[in-house]
Amino acid sequence: MDKFLIQGGNTLEGEVRISGAKNAALPLLAAMILAETPMTLRNVPNLKDVNTLVKLIGGMGITISYAGDTVHSDASTLNNQFAPYELVKTMRASILVLGPLLARYGEAKVSLPGGCAIGSRPVDQHLKALEALGAQIEVENGYVNAKVDGRLKGAEVVFDMVTVGGTENILIAATLAEGITTIRNAAREPEITDLAHMLIKMGAKIEGLDTDTLVVTGVEKLQGCEYSVVADRIETGSYLAAAAMTGGRVKTTHTDPALLECVLEKFEEMGAEVTRGDDWIELDMMGKRPKAVSFRTLPHPDFPTDMQAQLMAVNAIGRGFATISETIFENRFMHVPELSRMGANIQVEGNDAVVTGVDKLSAAPVMATDLRASFSLVLAALAAEGETLIDRIYHIDRGYEDIEAKLQGLGAQIKRVSE
Ligand code: EPZ
Repeated sequence: MDKFLIQGGNTLEGEVRISGAKNAALPLLAAMILAETPMTLRNVPNLKDVNTLVKLIGGMGITISYAGDTVHSDASTLNNQFAPYELVKTMRASILVLGPLLARYGEAKVSLPGGCAIGSRPVDQHLKALEALGAQIEVENGYVNAKVDGRLKGAEVVFDMVTVGGTENILIAATLAEGITTIRNAAREPEITDLAHMLIKMGAKIEGLDTDTLVVTGVEKLQGCEYSVVADRIETGSYLAAAAMTGGRVKTTHTDPALLECVLEKFEEMGAEVTRGDDWIELDMMGKRPKAVSFRTLPHPDFPTDMQAQLMAVNAIGRGFATISETIFENRFMHVPELSRMGANIQVEGNDAVVTGVDKLSAAPVMATDLRASFSLVLAALAAEGETLIDRIYHIDRGYEDIEAKLQGLGAQIKRVSE
């Protein structure tokens, strides 16, 4: 199993090119199922999760190729609507094929994703919303069997909670439903707006972008198009955090400051100088130790849960103390014991954590537990005294393209070791 060996103590400086967003690429790939004609997706990050979805879609008979940062697909060759457990269990986002399969082909058999390390993560809201659109759904032997007579029918869908994947699944499905679908309490994450932009380019009619009410007027057919995946705001924030963590100066390029304003404000509160360009962001910590900052994770446009672990790591070496509340997932503090092994002072009570900054972290063998938790350990290792060995980095390969090369380009001493 691969591990990272990181020698701490270097100040990170330089420029890093941000990749396309994993969490946008996945729903965009699922939406490709709807296209009557071939289509092309660009700026696709080279990641394990993207490979999994390409494999899943290819298994349905869709002609799909993935090379460099480009995916070409021709959905007209689809010959089955089956998403097997073996693939779905490795990636929860596989459930995103349910909506498009139902909308375009009237039936689907998709394995239920299991829970995962950060929480139980049910898909009840996805199923309830598809039923509102007229789907008949049965869950049997771990599979969702869904079908609809004729087309899905537009309806009013009100989510009980803000769900990113639920909103995406229903948005995709509603584009081909008969009549109007109104999605209330919709998630407003930038990846949803990106999905809506691509669907509109394919011929869909969607209003209310960037709001919590999406109104979709169904059309009979959607065509293929060329589209480029939006920048990864979480990858952007993660590299900026590396500058904050090491007192350095990092410029992220091919990104968009508007996607993560809330996170940028937290960096400013830490004492960093943040400069925003049209498609770049530079964070200069000016050799200073960051001030610890409190925050609560909430749906967009508030503070993203996917940046919680990274900012906790920065707080761990901050001046003063900070409280962090995780309100999206019930078990997303698994990095805490690992950070503590490196000398961090963090007390957890339920979904609240109090982080009291320490002068120095020290290297220790640690274990990555999920994607963003892994990056928090990388951050801690970059600032720690000594050489840290991070185990189970397969988690990080799910969501950070070329991480060693990007960090090395900024002056980090990081290498991958295989055992
Ligand atoms: C997306 O997950 C992201 N994944 C996650 O990114 C991200 O953390 C999350 O949104 C929140 O922003 C992708 O986009 C592929 P949700 P998703 O549905 O869609 C509960 C990362 O590190 N819920 O918004 O699965 C759920 O359990 C990851 O890149 C239900 O109860 O998240 C959770 O507590 C991890 N029933 C909350 O809602 C449902 O039917 C939000 O989940 C659906 C969700």
